[in-house]
Amino acid sequence: MNSNARQGVALVTGAGQGIGLGIAAALAEAGFRVALTDVNGAAAARSAADLAERGLTTLGLELDVVRAEDWARSVEAVTGRWGRLDVLVNNAGISPRGTIESTDEALWDLTLAINLKGPWLGIKTCLPRLREHRGTIVNIGSTRSTRPMPGLFPYVTSKAGLLGLTRQVAAECLPYGPTCNMVAPGWVDTPGERVIQAAHGRPDFPEGVRNLTTSEEVGAAVVYLASAAGRKVNGVILYLDSGLHLADDAGMVYLPDEVRIRYHQPQGEPGRA
Ligand SMILES: NC(=O)c1ccc[n+]([C@@H]2O[C@H](COP(=O)([O-])OP(=O)(O)OC[C@H]3O[C@@H](n4cnc5c(N)ncnc54)[C@H](O)[C@@H]3O)[C@@H](O)[C@H]2O)c1
Repeated sequence: MNSNARQGVALVTGAGQGIGLGIAAALAEAGFRVALTDVNGAAAARSAADLAERGLTTLGLELDVVRAEDWARSVEAVTGRWGRLDVLVNNAGISPRGTIESTDEALWDLTLAINLKGPWLGIKTCLPRLREHRGTIVNIGSTRSTRPMPGLFPYVTSKAGLLGLTRQVAAECLPYGPTCNMVAPGWVDTPGERVIQAAHGRPDFPEGVRNLTTSEEVGAAVVYLASAAGRKVNGVILYLDSGLHLADDAGMVYLPDEVRIRYHQPQGEPGRA
């Protein structure tokens, strides 16, 4: 598969690094023209240029998902360049630590804005163009969408909300498309996750941890949902965690007790960074 396949046009949020970049690369390699967007415009431009150097068709754009005007400008830029929009991937997200009581209103507002309001604004803005070719929306959730974990109060709440939004969008769009699904990765080694782990005393992450999911695996799942083979899949949560969410302790079975306890403890708020 290569850029000559011309499958359509995709927009990925938070694509400057980590999972979003993995998704963008996989879509581009599958033949999509891909807009890599990020609140960090320089990172989006750099990642888009890196993929373009590999012969892939990309565009880098600055887009803060909580700003409706950024969405309008970005969708205009994408459709102005390529004439259509087929796939929207709502990947941008933050995962700050906090309990019911340690979470203040600012952290709640920030987490819910980026992780939940952002996808809604994106879907609302992109919907007219996505309808034109019966497109696809993929929201990047988490095993935490259905499996709570102490110390992740605003994150779990936002990702559970995103699952509800996913199903609601699928239901509202049944007559005319697009499809709307959630991909829910387990633990993925990304730059953002490394910052959080380091702040919690795990600078060695992910050494010794088993069953990590990779950004490439998340990308492959998104390509499947966006391709003809995935067209009948709608309104689902697709777990990518080797089934670990089935364990009683929300998939943390692979960690030694000592590490697990430390991971659960809220210390600081790295997600604000
Ligand atoms: N890493 C994991 O273990 C893991 C597991 C399950 C789900 N996820 C989800 O995957 C997604 C990506 O996570 P990651 O680990 O790659 O994170 P990351 O921090 O490495 O990358 C996130 C990217 O999103 C961008 N971003 C942040 N706020 C934004 C905003 N307001 N608008 C646009 N872009 C913004 C950042 O600049 C960054 O480039 C998130 O939604 C996260 O919740 C991650």
